[in-house]
Amino acid sequence: MNRNEFKRRRKQLMRMMGENSIAILPSSPEQVRNRDVLYNYRPDSDFYYLTGFPEPEAVAVLIPGREQAEYILFCRERDEKKERWHGSRAGQDGATERYGADDSFPVTDLNDILPRMLEQCERVFYAMGCNPDLDRRLSGWINDIRSHSGSDVRGPIKFLALDHYLHDFRLYKSSAEVKMMRQAAEISSAAHRRVMQSCRPGLMEYELEAAVIHECAMRGAREQAYPPIVGTGGNSCVLHYMENNDKLADGDLLLIDAGCELNYYASDITRTIPVNGIFSKPQRQLYELVLNAQYAAIAAVKPGNNWNDPHEAAVRSITIGLVELGILKGDVDTLIKDGDYKRFYMHRTGHWIGMDVHDVGDYKIDGKWRLLEPGMVLTIEPGLYIPAKSKKVAKKWWDIGIRIEDDLLVTKDGHEVLSKGAPKTVAEIEAEMASAKT
Ligand code: GLY
Ligand code: MN
Ligand code: MN
Repeated sequence: MNRNEFKRRRKQLMRMMGENSIAILPSSPEQVRNRDVLYNYRPDSDFYYLTGFPEPEAVAVLIPGREQAEYILFCRERDEKKERWHGSRAGQDGATERYGADDSFPVTDLNDILPRMLEQCERVFYAMGCNPDLDRRLSGWINDIRSHSGSDVRGPIKFLALDHYLHDFRLYKSSAEVKMMRQAAEISSAAHRRVMQSCRPGLMEYELEAAVIHECAMRGAREQAYPPIVGTGGNSCVLHYMENNDKLADGDLLLIDAGCELNYYASDITRTIPVNGIFSKPQRQLYELVLNAQYAAIAAVKPGNNWNDPHEAAVRSITIGLVELGILKGDVDTLIKDGDYKRFYMHRTGHWIGMDVHDVGDYKIDGKWRLLEPGMVLTIEPGLYIPAKSKKVAKKWWDIGIRIEDDLLVTKDGHEVLSKGAPKTVAEIEAEMASAKT
């Protein structure tokens, strides 16, 4: 992402904050995996969104209109010995020269410097509750400022939820962000094609997980946006199945929900395929039922429609399909009203997606479903799950779990399916799977 993109975001936030304000935004702490081994570091999305700064132990401070410096980045100091062991650090010079900070100080000086900045401001934009250590320090500084009896320093009088404002900005993707998300979805689509080509009875679920991760990494996306779900047979009916250690059996379906993260942007794609390359008749009937529901939901993704319109379209389509197949019995409107479809379709049809796979942004405004607008990106992912021994359901439908998930950008005229490179119709999937066998 270009440096100007981060600058533009900071300017947008500072314009909204106005003068006499300060925003304080820490990066996320490093996490221990076990003993002295850490998880790969990934900065908090809000922090990275504003700074593009990839290191831990950093705090960004924005003070609109401040003469000496509006954007101050507290970060680790250079340290030759530590850098030899753990890799390079930007240090204060790097923070200003490479990351666009107007000024930078060692993060160890935060206690000395930040209270002096705070006491000049009336409004503090801060996400309370996300970083207990900084929460505590901040309230200590504020108490100190307030106890300066007799001084003319007034100090902050109002706290505002920084995350709320940032999350609204993040909901509307810029063209650079859309480009990145399109690329992430293309890489994940290639990974799903690779799964279709590799899949055969006798493989282990984790072998396909490995194929996904390998394909994404070889294309430059070294992180997954979430742990891949690779579930065959009855496992496909467990929504967040992640054990991925069963053997693929001839005649079963395989549900694979996997998407890479590329340069901090997520993709999230699910495909459901027949392990042996050919859908059986009941599998195809249910697959096409879900696919029709997905098409109905996708058609409802356009500006002016509200967040819930695609979900309502999917629910109606699934309920009609289940009645046609005799899996649900009764009047469609009543079944929808009473929520009977939830026995087989128990999740919602999608979520915002962006830097986080379940991205930020409100779904309702003043109690009403939000309207879709160009630049928003969401998933559409209806599903149907019929575990074995489902009561009053014919045996031929058992152990079938199907989800079909794509990533969509809302455009001026409707939508763009970012993940269109992953085969989806019965004919496309069977052809992709057959292509590897010839
Ligand atoms: N992969 C998680 C989800 O689809 O929401
Ligand atoms: Mn999803
Ligand atoms: Mn998913």
